[in-house]
Order: sequence, then C-alpha cells, then structure tokens
Amino acid sequence: MSNSPDARQQTLYQQSVEFYERNSQGYDAKRWTTPAGAYLNEVQIGVVRELVATGNGKHHLDIATGTGRFAVDLALCGADVMALDSSPGMLAETNKRAATSDVSDKVETRQGFANEMGLKEQFDSCTCMNALCHIPDQKGVVLSAAEALKDDGILVTSYTNWLSLYLLIGIYINLKGKSIHGDVYTKWFSLPEIRRLHADNGFEILETQGVLHIPTRVKNKALLGFLKAIDRLCRKSFLRFVAPQIYVKARKLSVAEF
Ligand SMILES: C[S@@+](CC[C@H](N)C(=O)[O-])C[C@H]1O[C@@H](n2cnc3c(N)ncnc32)[C@H](O)[C@@H]1O
Repeated sequence: MSNSPDARQQTLYQQSVEFYERNSQGYDAKRWTTPAGAYLNEVQIGVVRELVATGNGKHHLDIATGTGRFAVDLALCGADVMALDSSPGMLAETNKRAATSDVSDKVETRQGFANEMGLKEQFDSCTCMNALCHIPDQKGVVLSAAEALKDDGILVTSYTNWLSLYLLIGIYINLKGKSIHGDVYTKWFSLPEIRRLHADNGFEILETQGVLHIPTRVKNKALLGFLKAIDRLCRKSFLRFVAPQIYVKARKLSVAEF
C-alpha cells in the first residue's frame, strides 16, 4: 500500500467510517444515559436548536447524523430534515428515533459521505455535530456543505478545542491522532484553524458558544454540580474560547461576497 499523504488520509477516512458502523448499536446507551451524559445531551440539543433557529417550511441537512439526535429534534421544531451518514447502522437508529418521536414524515435518511454529498443549494441550514474531529478532509466536508446550502444559509458545526481547559488531553489526542476511548481518527482544533476553515471556504462566522464536555462517567454529585456551573459559564462568556467544545454558527457567503 502507498504511504503517500493522500493514501494515508484515505485509510484514516475509511477506518473512521468503519468504526462508527461497528459501534452503531448501543451508541446512545453508552453516551447519553448517565447523569452527566443526559445533561450533555440536553445541553448540545439546546445549543444546536438555538443556533440553527429553524422552523416550519425550512429545509435542514444534518451531516454525519449518527443516531439522529439533532435531526429529529430539528424536525420536531418544524423543519424538513435530510439526515446523512456513512453508516447504515446509524441511519437505522435515526429512523427508529424519528418513528418514536412521530416525525418519520419529516426526516429523510440518506447514506453518503460528508465530503462528497453532491447536494446543490437545497438547504436553508445545515449541521455537522461532533463529527468533523473524526473525519479527515474537514475542508471537503465544509465545501460540500457550502454546495448544499442556499446563499445566506446557516452552517452550525462543533469543534473540539485543543487550546482549552482540557489542554493536556488535547495535546495527547493530537499527538496520538486517535480518540482516548476508541481506535478512531480524532483531531482537536485551534481557534485560528476553525476561523480559517470557514473563511477559506466561503463562510462568515456569526456566533460561537462553548460547551465544557463533561466526561459521561462523572457520577459524584458535587463534582458534577461544579462542572455544570463551569459549563454554563462557558456558553457565552469569554470562557467559550477556552471551552473544550466550540459550537460555531456561520453564514454562507454569496459568490459576490466571497
Ligand atoms: C461522533 S458521531 C456524531 C453523530 C451525531 N452527529 C451526534 O452528535 O450525535 C460521528 C458520526 O459521523 C459519521 N461519519 C464518520 N465518517 C463519515 C463520513 N466520511 N461521512 C459521513 N458520515 C461519517 C459516523 O458514522 C457517525 O455517525
């Protein structure tokens, strides 16, 4: 096998796709059912709901939808949602969730790759949550999202921030190039990288919010209470720039503007 950067990136890309297909069963139960996990799930859904601000008659695309946490919530807000993922197993979970929430008619699942979606100017808004850090070729994903959005369309993405309160974990993960918990490609970003990824690919950043990302294993009530308080401070104060997760709302620029 070739060791060229492209071949290496292709291998990492394929490994990431396969990792999630293998882990689609029980994915939510592992993450969002502990007290810390349930809190984090609620926070993430609330922040995305606020940033996307969608509603009836709007078309939304959720890239790398996973089990459809955001896709189904945005459908409940009124949007017609396309939920795209490379993993058929994840999409099966999304379909189950949509059926349980009675929004199957508002959520269309599609198997595909985030960096070559081939969707053209169809959507008012787009999300790609907790996924860019696991997909090499982040630029390809952002360009593909730009193609899928109408002018002025909104892109909401989340990034793991290595220059954060979890600095040592960020350094460790970036040196290893893998997640702590699983054998999957993982990258944490710096703020300048996040800014460039948007500015170079046709987006203007409108707003950022921070999330602490509390480890889901934390069970001690006092510690959890303390971490929740820090998390709330991270949302909109200057602390968002050192939060381990940064949520970005950006606007697609028209050709004339870019
Ligand atoms: C960490 S999960 C996030 C899922 C969901 N957005 C959430 O936050 O609950 C990452 C998702 O990205 C998907 N994925 C990985 N590589 C992909 C690719 N190249 N194209 C599309 N989806 C991909 C995985 O199948 C998985 O569902």
